[in-house]
Amino acid sequence: MRYQPLPATFYRQARANFMAQMQGNSLAVFNSNDVYPISADSTLPFAQHRDIFYLSGVDQEESILVLFPKAVEAKHREILFVRETNAHIAVWEGAKLTKDQATKLTGVETVYWLSDFERVFQELATQCDTFYFNTNEHYRQAVETQTREDRFIAQCKANYPAHKVAKSNPILQQLRAVKAAAEIDQIQTACDITEKGFRRLLHFVQPGVWEYEIEAELSHEFLRHRSKGFAYTPIIASGNNANVLHYTENNCQCKAGDLLLMDVAAEYGNYSSDLTRTIPVSGKFTARQKAVYEAVLRVKKEATKMLVPGTLWKEYHIEVGKIMTSELLSLGLLDQLDIDQQNPDMPAYKRYFMHGTSHHMGLDTHDYGLLHLPMQANMVFTVEPGIYIPEEGFGIRLEDDVVIQENGAPLNLMGNIPIEVDEIEALMNA
Ligand code: GLY
Ligand code: MN
Ligand code: MN
Repeated sequence: MRYQPLPATFYRQARANFMAQMQGNSLAVFNSNDVYPISADSTLPFAQHRDIFYLSGVDQEESILVLFPKAVEAKHREILFVRETNAHIAVWEGAKLTKDQATKLTGVETVYWLSDFERVFQELATQCDTFYFNTNEHYRQAVETQTREDRFIAQCKANYPAHKVAKSNPILQQLRAVKAAAEIDQIQTACDITEKGFRRLLHFVQPGVWEYEIEAELSHEFLRHRSKGFAYTPIIASGNNANVLHYTENNCQCKAGDLLLMDVAAEYGNYSSDLTRTIPVSGKFTARQKAVYEAVLRVKKEATKMLVPGTLWKEYHIEVGKIMTSELLSLGLLDQLDIDQQNPDMPAYKRYFMHGTSHHMGLDTHDYGLLHLPMQANMVFTVEPGIYIPEEGFGIRLEDDVVIQENGAPLNLMGNIPIEVDEIEALMNA
């Protein structure tokens, strides 16, 4: 792997935390992602499922982790199954993890070959009453494909119809939402790589460059710093493209006088970062662009102050909405009648700011975290207000990633990435 993995002690602790919440005489199973096909013999690059990664650090396809705290044999409390290298695999793909390497990486003492899974699992199944299955309950999930995990669950239910089932997801949602110090370091590294990419762009962007050329610059900078690349599909949106929230074509030429919205960030070691900056293609904001930019920045600063332990995500969004409403009034985008007549379920500000202000960030860009529970120290959130004005030909969003602290304001992991108007203009014209 090209990144520095977390120490095995982190994964041992994560598994202990998970097992401490398992009820009854139960075992839990976590599968790797499939290698997804394109067509013919083409595949997408492998991307590990973040749950087995969180609990083991194993970054290899066809791996299975079993956790069974009350196993009859102590060696079966934690088992990792990995694919055995044979001569063919060694020549064509390179060697897979040996058992020793797998133990060093993950801290799991008992490592079996995948070919032993059916036999071992059958033995374990006779010793337990309940299977914890790892279903996807993310609040934004909309998965239409059957994952390796789904296939396993279906097969397991067919083979063992008398077992009870329980859900791993709520446990993982709570554990993964609160980051360990080592994880925050990994996210900080991703943010620092993102910073290098953004600073490079400040010298590259000028009228006439194409959005995909900017994407290429970022890719170059991310990869040369041991990132696998973008943490999510990059949005590089000049002019009115910024008003298409999920614009990812990145195929237009940047024009003098336009703004350029870039929602672009690196991953590192399977941890995301999530950045948005909006800069003037010509190196200088117009008065109107600057006024809207400063409004977005003020909303971001005020919103950030509210990210403290105890804050409820829903109430936070209502408060941010009020601040945004007052900025939109000052900008002349809304008037008092709009406010007086607004539907409380669809407040007037949503015409110009239609997405959420914050989401959990971590192994997944839209990370785990149960939104009805109060915020806690060491949760990582984005802060990303925006104002989108198609009739004026631009949209502005600003986004940083912050860590909630026990006391006081959150720590901004992107605090070194230029954001003030003067700073951006000075760097673009240096
Ligand atoms: N880049 C995805 C998001 O900001 O939520
Ligand atoms: Mn983003
Ligand atoms: Mn985001």
